[in-house]
Amino acid sequence: MSTDWQTLRWIGGPAGHLMLLDQTRLPVACQEVACQDVESLREAIVSLRVRGAPAIGIAAAYGIVLGLQTAVGGDEPAFFARLEQVCQRLLSSRPTAVNLAWAVDRMRLRAGSLRSQCPPTELHAALWAEARAIHEEDRQICRAIGGHGATLLRDGMGVLTHCNAGGLATSEYGTALAVIYAAHAEGKRVRVFADETRPLLQGARLTAWELQQHGIDTTVICDSAAAHVMRAGLVQAVITGADRIAANGDTANKIGTYGLAQLARAHRCPFYVAAPCSTFDLDAPTGAAIPIECRDAREVTHGFGLQTAPEGIRVYNPAFDVTPAELITAFITQHGIVTPVDAPHIAALLTREC
Ligand code: MRU
Repeated sequence: MSTDWQTLRWIGGPAGHLMLLDQTRLPVACQEVACQDVESLREAIVSLRVRGAPAIGIAAAYGIVLGLQTAVGGDEPAFFARLEQVCQRLLSSRPTAVNLAWAVDRMRLRAGSLRSQCPPTELHAALWAEARAIHEEDRQICRAIGGHGATLLRDGMGVLTHCNAGGLATSEYGTALAVIYAAHAEGKRVRVFADETRPLLQGARLTAWELQQHGIDTTVICDSAAAHVMRAGLVQAVITGADRIAANGDTANKIGTYGLAQLARAHRCPFYVAAPCSTFDLDAPTGAAIPIECRDAREVTHGFGLQTAPEGIRVYNPAFDVTPAELITAFITQHGIVTPVDAPHIAALLTREC
């Protein structure tokens, strides 16, 4: 499976820069945007030019490299002070997807492991290598998720997905969509129903775009059509991604996922969540501890520049919700299928080298 676009690509060595496929322009234009410093990268994360939990983790790792480019000529204390400043800027960009904090922590740990051992130029080069490793590992992880998940799909199945958990949300290939790509590659015919995903239409703009490019049978539905489609017997599995999974299995994902999980339960349809180990957060005992990002009211009232609600109306715009563990049939991870979804099985998964 190959595409002529990349979600993220680094140009050059440690002094180079990051190119992002600007996802705010899709599906109308397939254009990249260059990020030359940490502020332009932070803006890209906040405005969803790059989005999806694993992709913003990778972006943040590269953001640390960008932010430290101005610190390589100084001394080590100044380098570490700048590192902390850059980490805080990136951590404040989006709160829910734990992959961002995971990547920042991994970069900090790498820097800490080299403290007092080499000059800032070498520290910086090592952090660049670490960011590249995070990027490359994500490719392998997504392939593994796809391979494991494909075993759950049979020829002729209808699969409903929400938001975009595809190549655009990761290095490439995706998590939920990796399962569909892998099943398709095995010759299984899968019919995908893509929720359009209000308010920013990641399903209609992004998921439909990438599935269409891969020749997958795809139908976009309004979020509110999901119950009707399930009742008609068109869906045999729901597969979504995740932004943060608590220690007990409660899962934060794009707003609307919780409702879908309830619908899946009501229609006796399995509800799968595909995610890498970096999306699990053992510091969050349950979903109640997961921070939920609330976004600008204008995303709802003036989506894509068109006013669709009265000026001045009160709006509540949470970007994510939490699906309770008991509604999730299984997690699909790079190490295999985790079921039942509960704290002991999650702990066992994460004691493996993730
Ligand atoms: O607001 P977004 O577009 O970043 O939300 C993304 C999602 O909710 C995805 O489903 C999740 O990050 C998993 S991506 C593999």
